[in-house]
Amino acid sequence: MSDVKKRILYSEEAIKKRVQELADTLSREYEGKDVIFVGVLKGAFIFLADLVRSVTIPHHIDFIRVASYGAGTVSSGKITITKDIEGSIEGKDILIVEDIIDTGITIASLKSILDDRKPKSLKVCALVDKTARREVDINADYVGFTMEDGFVVGYGLDCDEQFRSLPDIHVIEGQ
Ligand code: IMP
Ligand code: MG
Repeated sequence: MSDVKKRILYSEEAIKKRVQELADTLSREYEGKDVIFVGVLKGAFIFLADLVRSVTIPHHIDFIRVASYGAGTVSSGKITITKDIEGSIEGKDILIVEDIIDTGITIASLKSILDDRKPKSLKVCALVDKTARREVDINADYVGFTMEDGFVVGYGLDCDEQFRSLPDIHVIEGQ
């Protein structure tokens, strides 16, 4: 696995710049509100950490972890929560912070589960939007980078739990 061929797609500098731009947008949009940033574990942990240190608005942080039902790489279309948000989100402004939207199945299911809990608002900020394999008609409200296809690692993103701590985002070649 460590001899996997990969190349830098988004450099540490490019990510830093883009995260600051997103944070500026979020600081404007959530001004005067008390937003809860809900990081989706594990992939979004570094993105969330950088984002919250770049916003200028008061906020809370929570985490959720989900798993897809069924084995293999093809999503079954259903998710289960394996670690839930700790507080109530009823009547609150919620921003889901996700690493990647690919087929859209995970984020669509997560949004529907959280929506049932009656938040005041529910939006999604995704680090990467992969457009080519979308199966569900869903888009993030805020997107860091848009790409068509390819498997990316680094900056929190993994391939079999490897490469999360790389400072740049790399694309795995030959995938
Ligand atoms: P979706 O349900 O197909 O949208 O899957 C989204 C989830 O799959 C993301 O939250 C990631 O955990 C994972 N994923 C999809 N593409 C990649 C990738 O290129 N690198 C790392 N994880 C990915
Ligand atoms: Mg994920």
